[in-house]
Amino acid sequence: MGELNYSSMTHLKCSLTGEKFDADRPNRINPKTGKPLLAQYDLDLASRTLTKNSLIERPENMWRYREVLPIRDKKNIISLGEGYTPLLRSEHLGDYLGMKDLWIKDEGVNPTGSFKARGLATAVSRAHELGIKAITMPSAGNAAGAMAAYASKAGIGANVFMPKDVPLANRIECEAYGANVTLIDGLITDCGNASAKAAEKHEFFDISTMKEPYRVEGKKTMAYEIIEQMNWLVPDVIIYPTGGGTGIVGIWKAIYEMQELGLIKNKKPILISVQAAGCAPIFEAFSSGEKYAKEFKNPKTIASGMRVPAAIGDFLVLEAIRESGGCVTTVSDESMIDSVRFIAKMEGIFAAPEGASTFSALKKLLDTGFITKDMSVVLMNTGSGLKYLDVMKSLSNTV
Ligand SMILES: Cc1ncc(COP(=O)(O)O)c(C=O)c1O
Repeated sequence: MGELNYSSMTHLKCSLTGEKFDADRPNRINPKTGKPLLAQYDLDLASRTLTKNSLIERPENMWRYREVLPIRDKKNIISLGEGYTPLLRSEHLGDYLGMKDLWIKDEGVNPTGSFKARGLATAVSRAHELGIKAITMPSAGNAAGAMAAYASKAGIGANVFMPKDVPLANRIECEAYGANVTLIDGLITDCGNASAKAAEKHEFFDISTMKEPYRVEGKKTMAYEIIEQMNWLVPDVIIYPTGGGTGIVGIWKAIYEMQELGLIKNKKPILISVQAAGCAPIFEAFSSGEKYAKEFKNPKTIASGMRVPAAIGDFLVLEAIRESGGCVTTVSDESMIDSVRFIAKMEGIFAAPEGASTFSALKKLLDTGFITKDMSVVLMNTGSGLKYLDVMKSLSNTV
């Protein structure tokens, strides 16, 4: 039956060309195209044990979807209890907007306070399984905390390159978890360059988002969960804050897998990506019909997870949004902070600015008519507001 003892991963595939790569050795990107590799599974095999019924008895964490996660041997799973976060009906926000089917997926209750726990639990577990001893990564904040926590539990060396204005909580937690933290006077892209150099010099394995294949695998479990928690109904709309875009790519990958596994039928959700008005490369590419996004100059937003001027998976994010019939919208920092306060007052959830941006976006798209009040809508609160106290304090005295 559904004993949680295998991964049905078969190989890695270049997301641009489809070229195959061996999944059982450390791989990052396709060296020829420079594009991300995505894990592929024998979904026919997985569907024999990953069923609606078998899931009923499985533990309430993201490893309940073991067959479609990349860890071969369950003894290599490094877990702090990530996933199976609550999907909460937002009655008060729904009443306020005149909507009956509004939900918040609260990722802020994950270990280390954000959805990043899912991706990093997966990447660090797989690195551990493949015998990797030291990892490195650039991070705007939450990912670093998650990497440092899982690396500490795995006994792997963690090196983090962060912009110097990263939220204080992220820096302090990384240090507490024992990571080597380097603060960079620059953007996440500068941190990426510094991390890549360190990787080359010291033979660290660089687990930058989408530059290794497994973070996206952990993140995709958000879609499995939402749909399972909705009793196998696919919501009409999912609204997601976009930085590097791995969340959106993962959700879209999961929808295809779930169809092949026979867990859902043909309906797919409309994906709405939210970007900060001060850093909106995906918005600009979407609006001008481009396949790839141009680097966004002088990015500025307090939502550190959305301050990503260039993303390696840009074309995958754009493809997913377009294919879903969705769109990209932007919101100002002021609107995000207002939404943090409003969601907290109405629903008792203290969201990260990134997560709260989804409510700002919902209001905007209800006004334009892109979303209608009768739709079922899931807002992704990707993290906890508790990690942003210093940032929010400097912006507003009212939070
Ligand atoms: C709280 C939060 N929300 C959203 C994002 C953006 O996620 P993605 O990189 O998957 O687009 C981040 C990334 O750092 C984040 O920390």
